[in-house]
Amino acid sequence: MNFSKKDILKVLENVTLAGEGQNMVASGVIQNVVTFANEVIVDIKISTPAMHIKKRAEADIIKTIKENISEEADVKVNIKVEAPEKPQNPNLIKGKPIPGIQNIIAVASGKGGVGKSTVTANLAATLANMGFKVGILDADIYGPSIPIMFDVAHEKPLSVNVGGQSKMKPIENYGVKVLSIGFFTKPNQAVIWRGPMAAKALNQLIFDADWGELDFMLLDLPPGTGDIHLSIMQSLPITGAVVVSTPQTVALSDARKGVAMFQQENIQVPVLGIVENMAYFTPEELPDNKYYIFGKEGAKNLAEDLEIPFLGEIPLVQSIREAGDVGRPAALQTATSVEEAFEEVTKKVVEQTVLRNENLPPTEAIKITTMAGCSAVKK
Ligand SMILES: Nc1ncnc2c1ncn2[C@@H]1O[C@H](COP(=O)(O)OP(=O)(O)OP(=O)(O)O)[C@@H](O)[C@H]1O
Ligand SMILES: [Mg+2]
Repeated sequence: MNFSKKDILKVLENVTLAGEGQNMVASGVIQNVVTFANEVIVDIKISTPAMHIKKRAEADIIKTIKENISEEADVKVNIKVEAPEKPQNPNLIKGKPIPGIQNIIAVASGKGGVGKSTVTANLAATLANMGFKVGILDADIYGPSIPIMFDVAHEKPLSVNVGGQSKMKPIENYGVKVLSIGFFTKPNQAVIWRGPMAAKALNQLIFDADWGELDFMLLDLPPGTGDIHLSIMQSLPITGAVVVSTPQTVALSDARKGVAMFQQENIQVPVLGIVENMAYFTPEELPDNKYYIFGKEGAKNLAEDLEIPFLGEIPLVQSIREAGDVGRPAALQTATSVEEAFEEVTKKVVEQTVLRNENLPPTEAIKITTMAGCSAVKK
């Protein structure tokens, strides 16, 4: 029996790797195909070292060839992993880099409850799965939820000695290092802090902690665009911001304010893009049905209108909420549409970070001395 390379490539056009918008052939995942008698060797190149992605790619290729060409085909898949280019370090404070931390990405929204923490947790888990070194700094002084979403709410960070200095050790789960302002406040305690206090506490959580090397530190911000946010941005060199919104009109108008806050003349944190969360509802038992309960493509249109990148959509799915509540990000559920959705968004965030670092100078910590500059956002 003999199969041609052309036949094989044709059937592989039906296979799409998780997180790739195009099929394996169009996206360049397939590097080469060699056929000899009933033997088929497929060389592929993928960007993530995660074992389940490699396994799935291999299984999909073998299954597709056997089903569409011949059961007799003896298929071998050679996988080469080429991790995406790591973003360069733009985080300089007064010319000095924050030791070990390459990129600080703030996740913000304007409106509360739209899914900032959920998106942060799942972005982090996906980045870790892709082979990046990741930390989350939960800066939500009003309602820190990252410890619950990572199932570490009852842990207390230990102190370790680093070069003669005592430092806090972040708690690690699913390959992600976590520190939360929630580790240092009592549950249900209403924290009434002014911006400068919050900024000082966050500075300690960055500089007095033993984060080690991080490619990404994700900063889960509290909702809103107020005093706390300005103080945080004043004191930290944030590489870029990801703005989360639902498609609903009220959320969009707050997202617009969120974007405006980062783009203010005296802040100038590049906005990497907008993520549309709860883009549509999908019942688990009817995965092909999409109900646009908060409106359709509102965040996508807002991104177009503001001329900032659209980073993709995350559906409203019961398992995302459940995963958050039990403390294991939904993106870790392999071979699900939720995992794929988070993979697509994460890839776009990495892409935009790389672009940002190629095209713009490092963000400096900002020296705001009055609140006057904030009026545009606070209206
Ligand atoms: N795509 C989704 N599908 C299902 N549930 C979701 C989704 N995104 C978020 N949720 C749920 O919605 C609730 C609010 O989400 P989350 O806490 O992430 O929002 P937030 O913007 O961080 O809120 P806050 O402003 O209070 O910090 C949570 O119960 C979460 O599990
Ligand atoms: Mg939150």
